[in-house]
Amino acid sequence: MRKNIVAGNWKMNNDLSETHELIAHLKMQMVKEPTAEVYVAPSFISLYSAFQSLKDTPVKVAAQNMHFAEKGAFTGEVSAKMLKSIGVNTVILGHSERRAQFDESDEILSKKVSAAIANEMEIIFCFGEELKERKANKHFDVVKSQLENAIFHLPKDAWKNVILAYEPVWAIGTGETASPEQAQEVHAYVRKIVAENYDQATADEVSILYGGSVKPDNAREIFANEDVDGGLIGGASLNAIDFLAIVNSFE
Ligand code: G3P
Repeated sequence: MRKNIVAGNWKMNNDLSETHELIAHLKMQMVKEPTAEVYVAPSFISLYSAFQSLKDTPVKVAAQNMHFAEKGAFTGEVSAKMLKSIGVNTVILGHSERRAQFDESDEILSKKVSAAIANEMEIIFCFGEELKERKANKHFDVVKSQLENAIFHLPKDAWKNVILAYEPVWAIGTGETASPEQAQEVHAYVRKIVAENYDQATADEVSILYGGSVKPDNAREIFANEDVDGGLIGGASLNAIDFLAIVNSFE
C-alpha cells in the first residue's frame, strides 16, 4: 500500500555501541508520532540489537543486503531466513554501491528479489542512472532496464511488498541533490512503466522514494512532489535530529 516512507541507510557506519547511541538519540528526539513510516538499516552486526531496541517504537529495521540462496557454502553472506529469524522483514536491494563495488548484476538482483518475495520479505529496490548516462539523456532507458531486468518479473500480487527507491548515482553522497523537478520527472516515468507492465492500480499503490543527498533543508520540497513518497537517506540518517527533521518533512 502506498505510504509516506523515510528510510535511513546507515551503510558501513556505527559499531554496536554507536548503534545503541544513535538509536537512543532517535527515541529521545522522537517526541511525536512520525508523519511517515520510518525505517533504519544498520549493518548486519547491529540488526538484532536494533530490532530489540526499536520493536516497541514506530521505527522498523531493514537489512542493507541479503543473499538469494536459502543456505549453503556462501562465506560471509546472510539469507532471508536468517534475517527473518532476528525480526528483520525488510531488505534494501540493488543499491548502486553494491552494483558498482560488488558486481551485483541485474541477474543476481533478480534472484535476490525473488528470494526476498519467496520469504515474504518487504523489498526497498534501488535503481538510478550514473552521471554519464544522465548527461547523455539516457536516464529513462537505464531506469527502465534496471526495473525490467530485476523486478518486473514479479507477479502483480508480490508488489504489495515492494518499495521503489530512485537514487541517481551522481547525487549519492555528493551534496548534488536532484532538483525536485528531476526527481518528479523520473518518479512519474517509473509509475507510468509500472502501470504499463502491470496495471494502474499497482502503479498507484507502489511507494517510490527518492535518495541522493536528501537533507533537512531540501526534503520538504522534494517530498512535496506528486510521485515522490519519501526518501532513502544516507549521510543525514546518521544524525538523529537531521533524520527526524527529514521524517517530519511531509506537508
Ligand atoms: O541509500 C541512500 C543513499 O545512497 C543516499 O546517500 O548520503 O546521498 O543521502 P546520501
